[in-house]
Amino acid sequence: MATGKSRDTFGSKFGVIAAAAGSAVGLGNIWKFPYETGSNGGSAFLVIYLAFIFILGIPAMVASFAIGRSGQSDASSSFSRIAPGTQWKLVGFLGILAAIVVTSFYTTVAGWTLEYVAHAFTVAQSDVDPSAYFSDFIANPLRPVLWQIAFIVLTMLVVMRGVSKGIERYSKILMPLLLALIIILCVRAVMLPGGRAGLEFLFKPDFSKLTFEGALNAMGQAFFSLSLGMGVMITYGSYIRKSENLTKTALHVALADTLIAILAGVMIFPAVFAFGIEPGSGPSLVYITLPNIFSKMALGGVFSLLFFILLTVAALTSAISLFEASVAYFAERLKMKRIYAMLLTFAIVLTLGIPATLSQGNLSCIQLFGMNLFDFFDFISSNIMMPLGGLLIVLFVSWGPGKDIFRNELTNQGAIRVRSFGAIEFLLRFVVPALILVIMLAPLFLSLFRGEAGA
Ligand code: TRP
Repeated sequence: MATGKSRDTFGSKFGVIAAAAGSAVGLGNIWKFPYETGSNGGSAFLVIYLAFIFILGIPAMVASFAIGRSGQSDASSSFSRIAPGTQWKLVGFLGILAAIVVTSFYTTVAGWTLEYVAHAFTVAQSDVDPSAYFSDFIANPLRPVLWQIAFIVLTMLVVMRGVSKGIERYSKILMPLLLALIIILCVRAVMLPGGRAGLEFLFKPDFSKLTFEGALNAMGQAFFSLSLGMGVMITYGSYIRKSENLTKTALHVALADTLIAILAGVMIFPAVFAFGIEPGSGPSLVYITLPNIFSKMALGGVFSLLFFILLTVAALTSAISLFEASVAYFAERLKMKRIYAMLLTFAIVLTLGIPATLSQGNLSCIQLFGMNLFDFFDFISSNIMMPLGGLLIVLFVSWGPGKDIFRNELTNQGAIRVRSFGAIEFLLRFVVPALILVIMLAPLFLSLFRGEAGA
């Protein structure tokens, strides 16, 4: 290898899938997916979301894995090794920017989760009003910030222990446990009186609620949930063994991720309707809905504690991938010592992250394009930076200098036959780029058009 230094690889087949799924499955599935679905019309959102996972998400993930495994490095260095002397490495840089923006509000929500771990029994009590509890908490100028910092420190400690030792071991045991707990909560939620309306909201197609804005959110959600478009899956690809089938790995990761998101919807929406919560409540939705379910369960406090601990772990395995992306970038690209790369990441994330957290309370007056900082970071990362990064990654392997390595990586240098290769190539060349451009630009054109029509 070019650097002469051997890279950690994931030990087993399950290890790769568990680690990539550990990155993919996180707050995106359990916190963001339900609230985006609730705010964008329910079933209509779900249908286009699923379409995006299969048409855009899986091919883009395969592309990312291929770039990383061929380049044997983080996103930026992988681009420069495959296409030396070109500007493609900037895609990696863009990705790091996106990773940092995501981390800043991701750690806010992870911090909320820690608060709910600490107060798991309190929030599950039937005489505590979940929405008052949540709004008091996020408006507090100190507590959410302290939890956020606690979470960031926790993540750094895990990142410090290296890839296979840290991530693989934890994901393998705890993710299946989270899945089991979600299934139990789904059963409880579906049995709630009035819960049926929630299932209908989620599954009974009603395309009258479909909008371009909803489609943009669904696309952003697909990228966010699969950890795509910012080089994280490229970095992970560099840790996948040469003998592994990349297409299958991507398919398994995407299926696991999507299953968990749908189950999170089945857990949340029956309760949303049973308790008369507004489905479009936004980022608070899950944190006000779940305590309602716990308060109606035998041993609700115990379930509450277990759930928020596992959700913290899920957030942690995702946050690790976000941190690892920028730590690896600073370390390998800027030739920094890992510890300094980590401290630099820490400093940047705090600088952006604390204002994002406070924008839910005292700093809510700071508005960018009509959004508070938290929503703004969420919007520009998921709906602009990731689709743009995804577009460039896809173009790199479909039309750009990554064309040859792409075929070699997918077939493991000709050792395996990938039956879907033609379909994937077709999607990556034509469908994915067109779709990303249309969905990103349509809301812009529509608003211009509307502006003119109104004038
Ligand atoms: N996919 C994660 C989630 O759903 C979030 C995440 C982790 C992420 N790493 C990422 C999103 C990289 C985009 C890119 O919670």
